Amino acid sequence: MMRIGIGNDHAAVEMKNEIKAYLEGKGYEVINYGTDTKESFNYALSGEAVGNAVVNKDVDLGICICGTGIGIGIAACKVNGVRTCTCSEPVSAHLSRLHNDSNVLCFGARIVGMETAKAICDAWLDTTFEGGRHQARIDYITSIEGKQK
Ligand code: RB5
Repeated sequence: MMRIGIGNDHAAVEMKNEIKAYLEGKGYEVINYGTDTKESFNYALSGEAVGNAVVNKDVDLGICICGTGIGIGIAACKVNGVRTCTCSEPVSAHLSRLHNDSNVLCFGARIVGMETAKAICDAWLDTTFEGGRHQARIDYITSIEGKQK
């Protein structure tokens, strides 16, 4: 069974709950790394937690939701080994798996509706990395991490 880590801030509690239930209904195990209350919550904490869960292999893939999907995605992508994509439609989500081997999907609860969010998740989870010519590009991206002080 594929394990998915899900993270969110206060702006995305409802969407997190609905996406979690939706994915569980499809047979995924979904582990919650987000907040469950509407109290102001720093999205970076949750993005970092999901990113760490992915690179430590506690989960296979991560999904991060905040108001826009941008802040939580920036935070998750600071974890070495994480490749985020912030998507507002399914085509980009599909291509981010196919070409970029994205391992954390992000979207915004204030940007996309629930049905679009589900379609984005479906497109992303139903796609695997194509490898081939894309692998060298991913390897180069990974090498950038080693150049940081
Ligand atoms: C919270 O108000 C909001 O800034 C956050 O959810 C997110 O949109 C940040 O990128």
